[in-house]
Amino acid sequence: MAGRIPQHFIDDLLARVNIVDVIDGRVKLKRAGKNYSALCPFHKEKSPSFSVSPDKQFYYCFGCGAGGNALGFLMEYERLSFPEAVEELARLAGMEVPREHDRPADLAREQQIKTQFSVLEQANQFYQQMLRHSPNRQSAVDYLKRRGLNGQIAARFQIGFAPPGWDNLISYLGNQAAAPDDIVTQLERSGLVIHNEERHRYYDRFRDRIMFPIRDMRGRVIGFGGRVLGDEKPKYLNSPETDTFHKGKELYGLYEARQHSNHLDRLLIVEGYMDVVSLAQHGITWAVATLGTATTAQHLERIFKIVPEVIFCFDGDNAGRQAARRALDTTLPVIRDGQQARFLFLPEGEDPDTLVRKEGEAAFSQRVSEALPLSEFFFRALSEGSDLSSMDGRARFSTQALPLIQSMQPSLLQQMMMDRICEITGLSLEQLSSVIDLHRVTEPAPEAASRAPSRTPTSLPPEYAPPAADYADYGQLAPSDEPRPPTAQHTGNRSNRSRGSHLNLVNSAISILLHRPALAAQLPAASELEGISEPNIELLVALIDYLQTTPGASLGTLLVDWQLDNTHAAWLMMLNEIAHLDPILAGVDAGGLLSDTYSRLLERKVESRLDQLLKKQRQTPLTDNEKKQLQELLMRSPPSSH
Ligand code: UTP
Ligand code: MN
Repeated sequence: MAGRIPQHFIDDLLARVNIVDVIDGRVKLKRAGKNYSALCPFHKEKSPSFSVSPDKQFYYCFGCGAGGNALGFLMEYERLSFPEAVEELARLAGMEVPREHDRPADLAREQQIKTQFSVLEQANQFYQQMLRHSPNRQSAVDYLKRRGLNGQIAARFQIGFAPPGWDNLISYLGNQAAAPDDIVTQLERSGLVIHNEERHRYYDRFRDRIMFPIRDMRGRVIGFGGRVLGDEKPKYLNSPETDTFHKGKELYGLYEARQHSNHLDRLLIVEGYMDVVSLAQHGITWAVATLGTATTAQHLERIFKIVPEVIFCFDGDNAGRQAARRALDTTLPVIRDGQQARFLFLPEGEDPDTLVRKEGEAAFSQRVSEALPLSEFFFRALSEGSDLSSMDGRARFSTQALPLIQSMQPSLLQQMMMDRICEITGLSLEQLSSVIDLHRVTEPAPEAASRAPSRTPTSLPPEYAPPAADYADYGQLAPSDEPRPPTAQHTGNRSNRSRGSHLNLVNSAISILLHRPALAAQLPAASELEGISEPNIELLVALIDYLQTTPGASLGTLLVDWQLDNTHAAWLMMLNEIAHLDPILAGVDAGGLLSDTYSRLLERKVESRLDQLLKKQRQTPLTDNEKKQLQELLMRSPPSSH
């Protein structure tokens, strides 16, 4: 885009600013020893696992693995591109960004985009003015009133009016401009004006329509949607794809939703402009709409960077159910633990706009809260039309379901769904695995399977073990969902990090402690766990020990202390991996879960000691002490249900 920013300037800039100043003010930092800690701004959490080191000029989050320098922070937090982040940081430091304009084409393009944004904004102002001052305004005002919109909401969404006539916008902006010819070209590039080649004429794209400006995350107008006032066709006209406007990425209402609340925890995806605006007027200010397209993986990626939960809203008719199936397919490969997707079906003949006006905010919110979790919708949708009481039906069901599940990121949700399939079909994992293999040989691979990331094995991974019953609960609490990714984007560091892993008891305990470090205090001393042979047990012991014996311990202090000690590097990496497999603890008795996990670990210790003694007894006589121990172990009451 712009000329290249010289590397020496970036180095200089980073040397001059203090990351603490950059982050403070955006995130509430608390001093913790040499460092600062805070609730992570990049994922939802209740106890701080976000830490900023002034020495290293680096931030890091244990919960989600986000980390980087001041520029990286600005890019993530403000969702800026690299050059934008440099500009912002330079502004803070009072420095001017030098550019190496070795490529004039870049400079021209930067200039072009700038002009385009400016033209779009001028058009936006024009349409809004026309709603107030055009001689034809009454029809538009009446229309909006009829649809129940008040002035305040119209202003918040900057709703405007493109008056009837072929060249209102062209002549208005043309008259204002120093070079009218240029402005027409710019209007065309911005999608606001159409060129008729034969008649050598330019005319306004949007005529006699209610105008909905579409804004990007920074509030810049990037395009418009325009609605007719009557029944003419097409009902809605949207800006074409331009340098600034990409339908598959943008969401109508996202800027307004973020403006309205600085901490969103979920977003509702609806179909239409009017749905978003009408919901907002009724207090549901967190709805967004795709722009006449189905929800894409890019949409979902964007959304999940902002909120952990998305609720898709569909009409209750056939088209709605089909759209929901598409959304499910898009979501499965993208969703990770910690994220959630739910499906809301409206009564037939209603859309969010009509429904919220009819029944009000409370009733609509009630519907939202009852929306189906992803896993539930998944099993409902897939078992439709399969007779699960017949072997054939079960096979059909699993051949449909398994490839979809295999397309998912390794996650608790994925495991839970696998489990559920075993339950529904009454087939073991091995049996299921051969069902798929058989199916693969006889039929072309289903679409989802061919799209599955290549790291997903064709048959079930041999190390896959059905998760312990308690994880199934997580899954239900955390039906997460994510959008279908372009695979290349998705094989990024995160998915690699959790490759092949699943939460065993030890990791589960670690994971709970990472999210609720304070719970360590209620556990017996870490030494109790010694002698258990399970992967990662040393890490768990060290973690409990650290949290129990370090005054004021938090993940922030642990990060620093362990970072100072090179021998802990592997543990830090492991912690980071496990943090990515986090169970959702919201609404769960984490303390109870942890102590349960802990007792089950102790149970294993007892069992392995017992095995050991019994084995030994067969070979050599036991010592008195060992005999006593064996007797005690054998006398002990049998382990509870697990
Ligand atoms: P709908 O046809 O469901 O309309 O289009 P709606 O949102 O209920 O509109 P109102 O209530 O009659 O005003 C949903 C969305 O599909 C896109 C638009 O983005 C619209 O908001 N659409 C629809 C178009 O792009 N073009 C059309 O002609 C119709
Ligand atoms: Mn509608």
